[in-house]
Amino acid sequence: MAELQEVQITEEKPLLPGQTPEAAKEAELAARILLDQGQTHSVETPYGSVTFTVYGTPKPKRPAILTYHDVGLNYKSCFQPLFQFEDMQEIIQNFVRVHVDAPGMEEGAPVFPLGYQYPSLDQLADMIPCVLQYLNFSTIIGVGVGAGAYILARYALNHPDTVEGLVLINIDPNAKGWMDWAAHKLTGLTSSIPEMILGHLFSQEELSGNSELIQKYRNIITHAPNLDNIELYWNSYNNRRDLNFERGGDIT
Ligand code: BEZ
Repeated sequence: MAELQEVQITEEKPLLPGQTPEAAKEAELAARILLDQGQTHSVETPYGSVTFTVYGTPKPKRPAILTYHDVGLNYKSCFQPLFQFEDMQEIIQNFVRVHVDAPGMEEGAPVFPLGYQYPSLDQLADMIPCVLQYLNFSTIIGVGVGAGAYILARYALNHPDTVEGLVLINIDPNAKGWMDWAAHKLTGLTSSIPEMILGHLFSQEELSGNSELIQKYRNIITHAPNLDNIELYWNSYNNRRDLNFERGGDIT
């Protein structure tokens, strides 16, 4: 943090012909406000198109914060509460944020046609270089939750030189063993997809407490117009491979 406070970057922008310094400042302010509202882009990748939303202004030589959300959510439902939290404001002011939506999870996403082959988590990780190339960003600090944490960890293992830091929340780096697989199949016989996803996002204690937060997320997931797409992301998550790393293990 001390370092962040010390660095003050001032950029001198040339004036357009006939533009007063005041008009230039106003134009810059308007552009900044626009950037702070989030700009959504899509890029084509070998595994289909991916959508991401960029907030803030890129700072030279600073990594971008790149987030990846969990199953059943999109970047807003997963990260808005965190990034709007008061204590995050200092970070927000100092870093550009790139929030990736897994394919078919972006707001208003059409439902994929029947038989569509949804990318594996490894392939979702392989889409990230296309996002960074499009934005011309060379390094990131990854922030991922659940499936998103796995994807960012896989990306970091494949591209360690481009990752300056990782915040991985609720990561499960292991593939499902046969016991997990059987338990998952049995649960699937009696529970709906939204209930299984809620069981992944929250503890049993939290779910039975049925707080306003749980009701909110149950409502979001149960009534999601792209529930079929969510199920595809859920299946990819459940078919993940071992990441082959352990905290404090040989592979760091
Ligand atoms: C952000 O400022 O990074 C942000 C804004 C809205 C939703 C999520 C993140």
